[in-house]
Amino acid sequence: MKADTRERPNISLIDEAGVGDPLQLTESTESAWIDVIQKMDKVYADLVHYQVELEQKNAALEEAQQFIGSVLESMTDALIVCDIQGRIQQVNRALERLSGKQEQDLLQRSISEIFCVDSQPLVDSFPEKLGSDSIIDCEVNLSDLDSRPIPLAMNCSSRYDTNGRLMGMVLIGRPVGELRRAYEQLNKTHLDLKQTQQQLVHSEKMASLGRLVAGVAHELNNPISFVFGNMHALKRYGERINHYFTEVGKYLDPDLHQRLREAFKIDHIEGDIGPLIEGTLEGAERISDIVLELRRYSGIQKESPELFDLTKVIDTATQWVIKACREKPEVVFRPEGLLEVTGRKGQVHQILVNLVQNAVDVMEQRSGARLGISCGLEGESAWIKVRDNGPGIPDEDLRKLFDPFFTTKAVGKGTGLGLYISYGLARDLGGDLLVDNHPDGGAEFTLLLPLDGKTHG
Ligand SMILES: Nc1ncnc2c1ncn2[C@@H]1O[C@H](COP(=O)(O)OP(=O)(O)OP(=O)(O)O)[C@@H](O)[C@H]1O
Ligand SMILES: [Mg+2]
Repeated sequence: MKADTRERPNISLIDEAGVGDPLQLTESTESAWIDVIQKMDKVYADLVHYQVELEQKNAALEEAQQFIGSVLESMTDALIVCDIQGRIQQVNRALERLSGKQEQDLLQRSISEIFCVDSQPLVDSFPEKLGSDSIIDCEVNLSDLDSRPIPLAMNCSSRYDTNGRLMGMVLIGRPVGELRRAYEQLNKTHLDLKQTQQQLVHSEKMASLGRLVAGVAHELNNPISFVFGNMHALKRYGERINHYFTEVGKYLDPDLHQRLREAFKIDHIEGDIGPLIEGTLEGAERISDIVLELRRYSGIQKESPELFDLTKVIDTATQWVIKACREKPEVVFRPEGLLEVTGRKGQVHQILVNLVQNAVDVMEQRSGARLGISCGLEGESAWIKVRDNGPGIPDEDLRKLFDPFFTTKAVGKGTGLGLYISYGLARDLGGDLLVDNHPDGGAEFTLLLPLDGKTHG
């Protein structure tokens, strides 16, 4: 408490007029004055006491305010206090940081104005719900300075005064951007992992299939080679037996000879044996070709670059696919002579099979389905264009087409690996695989191959 330093009033006991009984006057006046002075002293002491109390309360209030201020300041969640009409009365630093706006620009604004348009209806509905349940964990988008959304998980509760009167609402928003990014990253990693797993399973399946095919092809190779050898021997033997019959006939009675020949249908056999043997040899050759293709396709046998006619590979690959089609499209392929390139024939074949298969798939059940294939030379490269008159490819899919597992086919119909593998093979061969929609409709794939692919892959 402060010491009372005020000077007391100097009270003179002499009658100012200097008349009457000075002694009697002095006594009564003095007691009155003493009374007054005592009362004044008490009032003054009370005043000093109140002032001290007030100063103490002020100090406590300031301390409380500083405490609340520091708590609000260090909150990472955004805080908004509104009146009953939804006008902003107080915000904390986190909200200023997130919204990029200063406190003075936020106060007195309607709460929904600081949110993105898509969240405004929800925020506008908050005041209606006041007094009833609090709103928990709804997601709203706060708008930053550039009107970009900042997702917040928002809780909103009613605010009452000390008499229990509804005064407004308190909103607390937790930024979920980081959380969401982390979640999305996790989700993406999970999907990547799943894809890699599927890819592994698929590669393992393909490898097993490849081994099986290679095994079967190898086993077929042996019987085929002795069918070949035997047929060549039979051809020689047949020629010799014919010769023998001709020689023996010279020593027999011509009538008997003729009758014997007719009885045993020797003329017929002689005429048939050559084509039979030729036909069997041709069949064996075809089997041998198929075995070779299977071994190439299985990928087990490492192919070396060779000189081959591209037009022939285009033809074979197209026939492979078309033969298996229920509704065959019209195929237009009119090569102008040979187109010789050096490279891995089996891989070129595989790419073309994929391209033709895709074209056939998109044209399925379309009337007037037409597959156009052309090829030619440009500089040091050969080009092959495979074009269909299907629906074409949506622009947004064009750049995803060569991604692994990109497919628009129904589950179980396509793995989405065909183009991914084809693109890899084309690059491996030193070439390229391009795609675009044709101006007259349908998709068009262009395969580029170096004429001399010996140095690649
Ligand atoms: N000629 C085309 N016209 C329109 N879309 C095409 C054409 N070729 C490919 N596509 C699209 O590209 C996707 C990917 O093709 P890709 O060959 O990689 O896989 P897929 O054919 O779906 O399955 P898979 O080849 O593994 O059986 C297809 O699902 C299809 O949506
Ligand atoms: Mg495909």
